[in-house]
Amino acid sequence: MAIQLQNVTYIYMEGSVLSQAAVSDIRLEIQEGDFLGMIGHTGSGKSTLVQLMGGLLQPTGGRVLVDGLDLGDKKQRKAARPRVGLVFQYPEYQLFEETVAKDVAYGPHNLGLAPEEVEARVRRAMELVGLPYDRFGEKSPFALSGGEKRRAALAGVIAMEPRYLILDEPMAGLDPMGRKAILETIAGLRQETGCAVVMVSHSMEDVAQYAQRIAVLHQGRLVKAGAPGEIFQEEALLRSLGLELPVPCRLAAALRARGMDVPPVYTEEALAAFLLERGKHV
Ligand SMILES: Nc1ncnc2c1ncn2[C@@H]1O[C@H](COP(=O)(O)OP(=O)(O)O)[C@@H](O)[C@H]1O
Ligand SMILES: [Mg+2]
Repeated sequence: MAIQLQNVTYIYMEGSVLSQAAVSDIRLEIQEGDFLGMIGHTGSGKSTLVQLMGGLLQPTGGRVLVDGLDLGDKKQRKAARPRVGLVFQYPEYQLFEETVAKDVAYGPHNLGLAPEEVEARVRRAMELVGLPYDRFGEKSPFALSGGEKRRAALAGVIAMEPRYLILDEPMAGLDPMGRKAILETIAGLRQETGCAVVMVSHSMEDVAQYAQRIAVLHQGRLVKAGAPGEIFQEEALLRSLGLELPVPCRLAAALRARGMDVPPVYTEEALAAFLLERGKHV
């Protein structure tokens, strides 16, 4: 079970003089339970790829398969849709119902589920994002704070119980507390349900901390995919693509430059653990 991108190319406005491949010949597989971080400079094709994985765009070349279902085929796409949950940038702009509960119920209701099942899912999803039904269910989505709105929108997708949750910059524009809440919700959902996560993010720190694998895009091409340790060893490559190393990597490098023998680390926890351990021996 996986999402398979088989030599996927996408060209906007094909045939026009302005046409240019937004995504070029991408081969990538997202296995069940994976946590894939997707990084790349603005315009590198991340959002286009997200829409291709959700079946909203049809590849100009190549194929996208979800659990073996070809998204290029209308019937198979329909069968594959509920398996993929898409969270767009600023998803809160799509909240529209008069209450949060109704908004979260919209997707599951459209799946044709029985009302009791819809309500059970709505309650679970709202609980998971930290907006308990009894407190927030009857509120208007427009009465929520920015971070709460984002979580309500996320709950609407979670309530569809997708096997693959694909998020396009889910923390953009939130304060640090809001960012943390979203990240922890995503990680918690994955742990609880075993769903795979694909997360596009500008934050190297967040990707370093949460992703199991990272895909680096540049000008529509997949430059490299691998474990965080592998990707963040490639400082020169990342720099050349306009990407920075995560802050803990840079701190470790600065300490190394001052003669401290710091191992390769890319998360705050790992760097702190090393420094604490070392502090015991001085
Ligand atoms: N709707 C569109 N019409 C034409 N070109 C587009 C459209 N959306 C994106 N592009 C172009 O496709 C390329 C990839 O964009 P996008 O997938 O949004 O990248 P990212 O999400 O990494 O910033 C860019 O060159 C962008 O200008
Ligand atoms: Mg984008």
